[in-house]
Amino acid sequence: MRIFLLFAILAAGCSLNEEKIILHVKERLIDVDGKEASVFCIEQPDGTPGFTAQKGQLLAIQLENYLDVPTSVHWHGLLLPNDQDGVAFVTQYPIYPGKTYGYHFPLMQAGTFWMHAHFELQEQKLLSAPLILKEASDTAIADQEAVLFLTDFSFKNPEQIFAELRCPSKIETHTARMHDIVEVAYDAFLTNCRTLSAPEIVPVLAESIVRLRIINGSSATNFFLSLGALKGTAIAIDGNRIEPIEGSSFELAVAQRIDILVTIPATGGAFPILAQGEGTAMQTGLVLASSESLKSLAPISQRASVTAGRFTNRQESLFHPLTSLNPRPVDRKIALELEGDMAAYVWTINKQAWPNITPILVKKGERIEITFKNTSTMAHPMHLHGHTFQVTALNGKPLQGPMRDTVLVPVNETVTIQFDADSPGVWPLHCHVLYHLVGGMMTVIRYEGYTQH
Ligand code: C2O
Ligand code: CU
Repeated sequence: MRIFLLFAILAAGCSLNEEKIILHVKERLIDVDGKEASVFCIEQPDGTPGFTAQKGQLLAIQLENYLDVPTSVHWHGLLLPNDQDGVAFVTQYPIYPGKTYGYHFPLMQAGTFWMHAHFELQEQKLLSAPLILKEASDTAIADQEAVLFLTDFSFKNPEQIFAELRCPSKIETHTARMHDIVEVAYDAFLTNCRTLSAPEIVPVLAESIVRLRIINGSSATNFFLSLGALKGTAIAIDGNRIEPIEGSSFELAVAQRIDILVTIPATGGAFPILAQGEGTAMQTGLVLASSESLKSLAPISQRASVTAGRFTNRQESLFHPLTSLNPRPVDRKIALELEGDMAAYVWTINKQAWPNITPILVKKGERIEITFKNTSTMAHPMHLHGHTFQVTALNGKPLQGPMRDTVLVPVNETVTIQFDADSPGVWPLHCHVLYHLVGGMMTVIRYEGYTQH
């Protein structure tokens, strides 16, 4: 019997397509407009940031911490066993300097995801990277792909930024919190770690279809995306396919992703793909360029001609998923009020600030509905770990919204989501603006009867 079991396990093991990935978390120097900056990164031994893998693979990640501080890395948007979720002090202990940590989980999804530190303020030091999950049918969708990993960058260390937010009198030169929309005055926005003074140039062929995988990996910046002269078709949101939607500008809140198809015209040319920060004139991006256009690339300004306004959620009602949640009655309704005390810089969910929270209890098998009501003065991109939810109402108005893992709740608005409680564990639910998160805006969904190992 034992021998039979052993064979069964071995046979199953062989049929699983296991993918081993080594990731180094380390410090590195980048050039920001001629000034050197020391940041963190997550890369493979050959220097590739993050990784690409296939849906259906069984992933074995070996994460090696070369920093002189502890860390932990979260796989944003992935459906995985709770103990692989990578959140320090929730599902694992931090990974200490010089230590290696193993993550093992099957890849259930295909789409555009990302990974980032879930420890202190490390995400602001660019401890983040793309996580791209492919499936066989992807090759029929586009001829080529380009990843745009957007971040917000400051030469200040994040502890200093947070201290200034908590105590505005400490602000030295910058104008943080002066503005209604922008809380942190960044020095630059980056795409794949570069500014527009030396942007990445992606070679493309005339008449080819390019799939842009755009990831908002910033700590506190919502981006307005512009495809310039190109027409685009959005095909996925947060890694989930949507009914295709045409446009040349889109909105991408913190932590969200969008996949857009663009067709390079027969005449070729150079096409900047730009992202402008909400409430600022600063922009970032990269250039898709056919070979003829390479010799005469025009410089692109890091400042747009007009300052961008505020996000609206206007596009949210336009997105419809290819596959919705199965219709069924809601078993449990949860109302969450998002509030902020700007003076103390404490952000709360139902008046509770992390870690002093009461977990939200759910039962396996239930359909859960959460309504976020934002009574604070800032918008909050709310993210739920380990589940994909559907946006089912905006300000009480029902809709078949997109399947997502992060939804923006604008000031004075309500957003309702539904999901199936199908993954027992303790799952963080938090605002993805890093300073709101560390300022308290996090809670957890806990499954009744779940015990952590
Ligand atoms: Cu991007 Cu707690 O997550
Ligand atoms: Cu927030």
